[in-house]
Amino acid sequence: MSATMPEKGKMAQLVDWIDARFPMTRFMKEHASEYYAPKNFNFWYYFGSLALVVLVLQIVTGIFLTMNYKPSAADAFASVEYIMRDVEWGWLIRYMHSTGASAFFIVVYLHMFRGLMYGSYKNPRELVWIFGMLIYLCLMAEAFFGYLLPWGNMSYWGAQVIVSLFGAIPGIGESLVEWIRGDYYISDITLNRFFALHVIALPLALVFLVIAHIFALHEVGSNNPDGIEIKKLKGPDGHPVDGIPFHPYYTVKDLVGFIVFAMVFALVLFFAPEMGGYFLEHANFDPANPLQTPEHIAPVWYFTPFYAILRAVPNKLMGVALMGAAVVLFVFLPWLDRSKVKSIRYRGWLFRSFLGAFAVSFIALGYLGLMPATPTYTLAARFFGVIYFAFFLLMPWYTRIDQTKPVPERVTYHAH
Ligand code: HEM
Repeated sequence: MSATMPEKGKMAQLVDWIDARFPMTRFMKEHASEYYAPKNFNFWYYFGSLALVVLVLQIVTGIFLTMNYKPSAADAFASVEYIMRDVEWGWLIRYMHSTGASAFFIVVYLHMFRGLMYGSYKNPRELVWIFGMLIYLCLMAEAFFGYLLPWGNMSYWGAQVIVSLFGAIPGIGESLVEWIRGDYYISDITLNRFFALHVIALPLALVFLVIAHIFALHEVGSNNPDGIEIKKLKGPDGHPVDGIPFHPYYTVKDLVGFIVFAMVFALVLFFAPEMGGYFLEHANFDPANPLQTPEHIAPVWYFTPFYAILRAVPNKLMGVALMGAAVVLFVFLPWLDRSKVKSIRYRGWLFRSFLGAFAVSFIALGYLGLMPATPTYTLAARFFGVIYFAFFLLMPWYTRIDQTKPVPERVTYHAH
């Protein structure tokens, strides 16, 4: 037998060469093969990795769209039609990007709802949550700026309505609106700056925030459906007894989620890319026309819960303030929630009822925001608006008095 060690393969030598100059293997270990995640992740834990997938999809398809899109009021609409009809596979890239926008919000809303159910915003994950909220705000801005770019009639009037909301701010309102538009009306100048913000400023901010979000998560460790801190119970090897290495266990699980997601995404993409006017609104197939308001102005579905709140308030300034509050209140959840337990599994009927009512009111407001503001619908929006705010504002009270159940030492896990 030879006493010498077998020579390393070419690949291993390359890895060694890189590791001597850049912490590649250390990084992979820290964040994948030696990142111990709770072994009881369920369905709700697919949406973080899916949000990453959609982020990459949007950036890649966005780059290809930018190659043929023209950010000018004279050419924008025609350049999108050119992409749809003449550019090779242009229709596919454009529909992937427009469907991707809605997919992004579906995935992110489910991801946030998981956080609400399992108390993932609570100590020690407050910063994970705050980075998440900053991501959500950037995502909303990103979608809003992107929607002006095709320069369709809804692009134009949607931007007109939303930008003019800033006019309700006392004192500085009108100058602020002019500053945002860069002009006295939504014009070529506005389109150009929205383009700059949409293709570079906000994607850059999003990528940095997502990195911060994941670093913050890996610092404290993932929560789980039982809301138990697995780091508290470590085995003789120093690893949490209820933890398993993220790679390969969860990379494989997330791959399953990705495949199912890709199938559903392809179905929408190939058979219903406009989704009956919910993903791409009908009025946006007409070019922007400052002289003709679309019959019924409504934002895309992911903004409609907030739009319904805005319309439900008779006073414009109050409406804008409440709409803003409806988004910003999420940031304060870590401090509004006074419960000793994290997961809904061990909470009492009070929290469960409030969370259920909140979810119903969010969906109902989303529906109402798509409908014309008739007196009945407005009344309904006020009703659901009150429930929406009650969830946040009464939280310190109902989470304190809620009858919680004892939390077990170990996570609940049934082998498959
Ligand atoms: C581009 C958008 C986003 C991406 C790519 C993203 C990515 C991720 C990933 C990969 C994870 C770990 C896997 C998982 O727990 O599912 C995670 C966890 C988490 N995210 Fe996000 N996220 C995004 C947006 C948000 C938003 C908007 C919020 C809430 C405001 C949020 C709150 C959380 C929380 C609380 C966790 C920890 C959950 C737990 O351990 O139970 N994320 N995120």
